[in-house]
Amino acid sequence: MEIVFMLFPDSDDRLASAWIWAIIISVLAFGIFMIWSAPLGAGWEPTSRKRVRRMLEMTGACSADIVYDLGSGDGRIVVEAARTFHAKAVGVEADPIRVLISRLAVSVLHLRDLVRIIWGNFFNVDLREATIVTVFLSQGTNRRLESKLLAELRPGTRVVSHVWTFDGWTPVARDVDQNLSMYVIR
Ligand SMILES: C[S@@+](CC[C@H](N)C(=O)[O-])C[C@H]1O[C@@H](n2cnc3c(N)ncnc32)[C@H](O)[C@@H]1O
Repeated sequence: MEIVFMLFPDSDDRLASAWIWAIIISVLAFGIFMIWSAPLGAGWEPTSRKRVRRMLEMTGACSADIVYDLGSGDGRIVVEAARTFHAKAVGVEADPIRVLISRLAVSVLHLRDLVRIIWGNFFNVDLREATIVTVFLSQGTNRRLESKLLAELRPGTRVVSHVWTFDGWTPVARDVDQNLSMYVIR
């Protein structure tokens, strides 16, 4: 700050320097918001609305399903699962701000009967009730998730991954345009 005041000695310049600091701090805060969760499994990058719809269409989601989105971000997948496909949905998200944003969306859209957002690490969440699991994480995290999914998900459960694949599994469907792979637990 001192250095900036030395560079901008009069008050107009100080106002300019305050703005510069505000912008630097905002950019840093936004960067941290985007990537702090990367060591847990993935940073934040939302799936486009079109892909969200396609992910759920691929699974044939309907009102009989319970959709789990692992790393649910702003809640767009669980909201879409409930609003358009009438499924029950559970989002698991580690970032408290994204949890807050998604819970707000769920309330505003009157979806609280269908959608639950868990604040926590999905590696510690019991997934046995899921009939559909959606992920947009990283190759390494998918690899770490494989054994948990195989241990907890019931046969017939559909797993859809955006971008990253599950190396040891054979997809039953692929949407190359949207970069989606779907698997069924045997
Ligand atoms: C690439 S974003 C995907 C968000 C959302 N699923 C979508 O497709 O729009 C990954 C999200 O996973 C969250 N995440 C990463 N590792 C996690 C973990 N171990 N437990 C819970 N959330 C995690 C991040 O905070 C981030 O919001």
